[in-house]
Parts: sequence; structure tokens; C-alpha cells
Amino acid sequence: MLKIQFKKTDFKATKADLGLVFIPKKNLKQKWIDSKNFKNFGYEGEGIFLDQQAHILYVGVQDLNVDALREASFQAVNFIRKMPFKNLKLGIYGDNEIMQGIFLGLLLGMYEFNQYKSKKNIPTLKEIFIVNEGITKTIPKNLEKDISTAEILAQSLILARDAINTPPEDATPLFLAELAQKIAKENKLTCKIGDEKFLAKEKMGAFLAVNRASVHPPRLIHLIYKSKKPKAKVVLVGKGLTYDSGGLSLKPADYMVTMKADKSGGCAVLAIMNAVAKMEIDIELHGIVGATENMIGGDAYKPDDVLFSREGKSIEVRNTDAEGRLVLADCLSYAQDIKPDCLIDFATLTGACVVGLGEYTSGVMGHNEELKTRFENAATRAGELATKLSFNKHLKKLIDSKIADICNVASSRYGGAISAGMFLSEFIREEYKDKWLHIDIAGPAYVERDWDINTYGASGAGVRACVQFLLDFIKKD
Ligand code: BES
Ligand code: ZN
Ligand code: ZN
Repeated sequence: MLKIQFKKTDFKATKADLGLVFIPKKNLKQKWIDSKNFKNFGYEGEGIFLDQQAHILYVGVQDLNVDALREASFQAVNFIRKMPFKNLKLGIYGDNEIMQGIFLGLLLGMYEFNQYKSKKNIPTLKEIFIVNEGITKTIPKNLEKDISTAEILAQSLILARDAINTPPEDATPLFLAELAQKIAKENKLTCKIGDEKFLAKEKMGAFLAVNRASVHPPRLIHLIYKSKKPKAKVVLVGKGLTYDSGGLSLKPADYMVTMKADKSGGCAVLAIMNAVAKMEIDIELHGIVGATENMIGGDAYKPDDVLFSREGKSIEVRNTDAEGRLVLADCLSYAQDIKPDCLIDFATLTGACVVGLGEYTSGVMGHNEELKTRFENAATRAGELATKLSFNKHLKKLIDSKIADICNVASSRYGGAISAGMFLSEFIREEYKDKWLHIDIAGPAYVERDWDINTYGASGAGVRACVQFLLDFIKKD
């Protein structure tokens, strides 16, 4: 990872191969651009201008706010990543929150998933100097802490991205369990791994059915972090489908590609555990991941099957591609036994959520308006897009079953994100209804066109939003 260093010297006095300067859009005059004779490289913001004589990289920004500056920082590093600069200097552009955003953007600008390339680009850029000069009157205090927080977030996002990007033949449930054990060892967490025998003992009939046709055994991962004086007990649950072929209700070929990313919720949970432990947040945090594949074969569970879940409810299967909710139903049941003050699940649950909200926004569902708002606000503050979707009794009726307690798909093709959320709600006990949030990250989890601080592949959606939510949660409770 890049090293970010705070310097005591001003911009001019700091020696570096390249200087980085952000220019607000309103100051980007065409005349000035023309006079400089540089090429405009353009990015979704306002453009990147390299002055080769002065060794300055100008990056246009819409505004000098944290979102624009985080993205511009990412674009700047991403742009020069393959150029022969060893170090880069830049000044102060605002308060601690803004600077933390800038640091995160700079760090992620270097990210590339190249583990499967025979020729790897070895980047020359190694160091970033933050100079003691900027557009603010006073230099924000304790920038070292913001550098360290950004480093933890970047490292955690990269951890999630690498795991999600890993092909399904390598990233199996066992792989996720080993990754969890590695995180546990590094951060002194407790790690419990449940195998198929454990799932059977726990009566997780829904989870087990999804796994049946897979040659890879399932795993239930349970990580525990406990600070000295925890202010709250929160349980996170993640959908860890290492591959979703759709099962017997097979996905069409084009829709199957990218389904290695169906483990994004689970990987986000692992990354959040890592970040929270490294940030030493005053909390008791549990991370549960239901890891399995959803495959086809003679042993596959079928449309028409009736499954028995850990909560005791029977489930009529009408579509084996609605498998995430089956795995989550059993994991949420297990999670409630931990008696959390707050329970949040993360899942790439429905294509309908992507259709409804677009590829950039997560859906926030649950029964508690205030809790949903708190998550939405935390996401916004952390630079993620999330919006509330409301449950209603009419959609609930659509998942009624004639032969079992509930059906795994709705009888209408509309409102699929909400009806999936309402299916999960059926497995939440009355006393936890107001403590539960369901986050559908199907849209932003996987990136096919670069946007914001995300390049092709996994984004790590949910990680920043959740860490921010937990920081706010322990403050308020
Ligand atoms: N993993 C998918 C949802 C998904 C789709 C995630 C696109 C990311 C991008 C999920 O298991 C699924 O297949 N859901 C079905 C549900 C349907 C059968 C009711 C869907 O969304 O089509
Ligand atoms: Zn599916
Ligand atoms: Zn799925």
C-alpha cells in the first residue's frame, strides 16, 4: 500500500516528483487550459491536466466537498499509477473528514486485481506527502489518525474486493472460512467455523438444501470481536454464495457471469470485522457468513420442494434461484440467539433491487424507520449511496404459500427487492423486528463500468457505510 506521510514543510519546500492540485470547476477557465498546452485527460469529474514542465497534476473537481475530493484523489492516483513518479505531494483541502476522504481515494487509486495476470504492473508510486499548507486557514489537527483510519478502511475494502474478485473455483466456502481464520488470527478475534454436520445439528434445513448439489461443502463462519468496554452488541450477517448458477431454475448464460460476486455480502462482513477490530471500536461485534454454492445436479434441491428452516417455518421452493434468502433465513435465526441490540444483513439478494435503484445504490429495508434513516445517513456520510425501500402488506401476501408456511418467491414479478426483504422478515422474531436491517447491495457490489472510487470488479459495497453506522450507533446508544 502507498505510504502517506504528513510533512512539516509547505508545498514549494517539499521535494516530490509530482505535485497534485485540485481545481474547483468554476476556476477551470478554458483560456488557462489553452495557455498551458496540456492534454485534458478527462474523468467523470472535470478532467485531469498534467503540466510536464512544472511537474504538477491538476485535477478538476465539481466542488471542494468530501465526495468530489475523494473521487478526484482516486482519479489522480489511478491516472499516474503507471507513470514513473515515485512520490506525490498535495496540500490540505479541508477538515479531518475531507482529508480522510482524500486519503482513502489516494490509497484506493492504486488498486488493481491482478492475481491472475501473468504480467503484473509493478507501480512506481510509493509515497504521498501531505504538505503543511492548504486552502483552509488552519491545518486540521491529528491528521495522522485520519491517515490511519483511511489505511484501515482501504485495507479492508481491498480485502473484500480481492476475495470477491477471486474466481469461484478458488474462492470456495472453505476459502472464505480460511480467510476468516486469517482475519481472526491477525486481529485476535474468536472464530468458529461450522461444517455440514454443524448445520444439520442446528437444523438449518434451508441452508443445507441450497448446498446439496455443490461439490464444495458449506461453511457457517462466525467471527467475534469484543472491545474492553463494549457499548452495544451488534450482529452482522452476510450472504456468502461463492457461486450462484441459479440451481435447477438455472440462470441464462449472460446473467450467470459475475455471480462469483454473490458472496459480496459475506465478504463485506469479513471486511467490516477486520476494520472494526483494527479501529478498536467500543463494541461487541459478531460477523456471520453463510457460505455455499448454488449448483445443479442429481442431488439438487428442486422447485416444489418444501424445506424446514431453523426457525421452524416450512418453505415452499418455487424457484431455486431465490437461494440467498434461504441461506440467510437460517443464518438470521442463528444470529438472533446471540441476542443483539442491532442485527444487520448484507446480501446481493435481488436483481429487482438493481432494476429499481440502479447499479450505484443499495436498498435499506426493515421495520424501524429511525434505524433505516440512521443507516442511510451513515452511508451518505461514508460516501456510499443507499436508500430506503418500504415494506407493505400487499407485497407480503404475494409470498404466501398454499402448502407451506411461506414461499421463497413472490407470485408477482414486480416489487422483488421488497418481497425478498419481507421473506427475511418472516424469520425475524417479534422482539428483534425493530432491531433488524436488511441491506440489498446487489447493485453496487460489482462494477462493470468504473465509477467513483471503484474500478472494474468488486467494490466492497456496504463496508464503509456499516463502519460509519457502527461508529454512530455506539455514540447514540
Ligand atoms: N444473486 C441473485 C441476485 C442478483 C442478481 C445479484 C443480479 C446481483 C446481480 C439472487 O440469488 C437471485 O438470483 N435472485 C432472483 C430472485 C428471483 C428468482 C425471485 C432474481 O433477482 O432474479
Ligand atoms: Zn439466485
Ligand atoms: Zn444469489
